[in-house]
Order: sequence, then structure tokens, then C-alpha cells
Amino acid sequence: VTRYELGPLAEMPTEGARVFQVADRRIAVFAVDGAFYALDDRCSHATASLAEGEIDADELCVECPRHGARFDLRSGAARTAPAFQPVRSYPLSISDGQLVLELI
Ligand code: FES
Repeated sequence: VTRYELGPLAEMPTEGARVFQVADRRIAVFAVDGAFYALDDRCSHATASLAEGEIDADELCVECPRHGARFDLRSGAARTAPAFQPVRSYPLSISDGQLVLELI
């Protein structure tokens, strides 16, 4: 497991998404009600940035801005068509005031 410090919590969005380049990946970090979730920033259906999608805070999912597939923010599971494959999700933790992402 490799741990990457994404930055101080104070610099993270309180609601919405921010994209990070980690190693060779683009990872979208979503903030919802004080919690953070990390997914690959690429829809599994075609090419689209999930960070640009709409967040549903009640259902804890994000809707792809291109064709509207919805993904679970916790697991990356595809909840609705036209996507059927999940997107990768990443564990996040907080250490010394930093948001830390684990790459396995
Ligand atoms: S690119 Fe995301 S649903 Fe088609």
C-alpha cells in the first residue's frame, strides 16, 4: 500500500469535488456532509470526468455529466445504466490534518 498525502483538510472542498493527480491516475475526491470519498475520475461507460458530475448527497452517488450513469461514492459501483462496470474507489483517511489516499 502506498499512501499519498492529498493536502491539508483546510484546503479540501467542503461540498463538491476536486481532482488530484496521483501517480498516473486522475482521482476525484468528493466531499459530502463532512465526509470524503475517492473514485477514479473517469466514467466506466465512456470518457467523462465524474468530478464534473452532480452529487446526490442523499443517495451518496455521483451522476456522470455525459450520459447520466450513477455511481456509488462509497464503492464505485455502477447504480444505473448506461454504465455497468464499477469505477475504482480508494480508501481515504485523515492523518495529522492531512487527507491521505491509499493506493493498493
Ligand atoms: S460517459 Fe458516463 S454515462 Fe456515458
